Amino acid sequence: MKKPILTLLVGAAALITANLGPALGQALAQSSSLSSTQPANASVGVASLRGHAVTDASDETLNKPTLAVPGGFQVSWEEQPPMIPHPIDKYSINLRQNGCLKCHSPATYEAAKAPAVASSHFLDRDGNRTNGIAPRRYFCTQCHAPQAGAMPLVENVFQGR
Ligand code: HEC
Ligand code: HEC
Repeated sequence: MKKPILTLLVGAAALITANLGPALGQALAQSSSLSSTQPANASVGVASLRGHAVTDASDETLNKPTLAVPGGFQVSWEEQPPMIPHPIDKYSINLRQNGCLKCHSPATYEAAKAPAVASSHFLDRDGNRTNGIAPRRYFCTQCHAPQAGAMPLVENVFQGR
């Protein structure tokens, strides 16, 4: 039973090796021509699974409005970073500023009527309290994600325990 599988694998490997040469050359040629014309935009020429360019603004799936959910989304498990219940496209997070902290920092949350960042956001990895927001919690959207009003493409039959 083992032998046919092995033969198949060897065959596939031979096929792949035979095809790799030209494919690799093409890929290299493509990437070098891209980098010479548009160094800043790495997504040029990349298509989504639906066949649109990922930067194609006419793709309706890219334009679903962000959900604004009063009271926030329910979390699915303990310790889940709560999902963002409002649009965030106007707030930037970079070296100089963090737009989220304009409403969520301990100094501003009351005036903004927003929940303050959790106290866990002021601890370094050893559990020591940091003065400002801990560097590992600075990039909020690394853990907190906004939600779009898009229908799932595939039904989700997952059931929690
Ligand atoms: C203009 C003020 C403002 C800014 C700026 C802002 N938020 Fe909010 N945020 C709110 C308010 C108000 C709520 C509470 C909404 C509600 O519960 O109805 C909220 C809720 C949230 C929640 C839900 C918390 C929970 O327990 O459910 C998260 C997460 C969050 N924001 C993250 C962010 C992130 C990340 C950014 C930056 C990309 C950001 N917010 C920028 C005002 C703001
Ligand atoms: C490494 C992941 C991570 C990062 C980065 C992060 N958070 Fe959180 N956040 C969490 C988790 C997990 C929770 C819920 C558990 C907890 O309280 O720590 C949470 C909770 C919150 C809450 C809800 C607090 C409450 O009392 O309901 C807010 C608001 C929030 N984060 C805002 C932010 C903002 C603003 C930033 C950026 C400055 C940020 N978070 C960065 C993981 C993260």
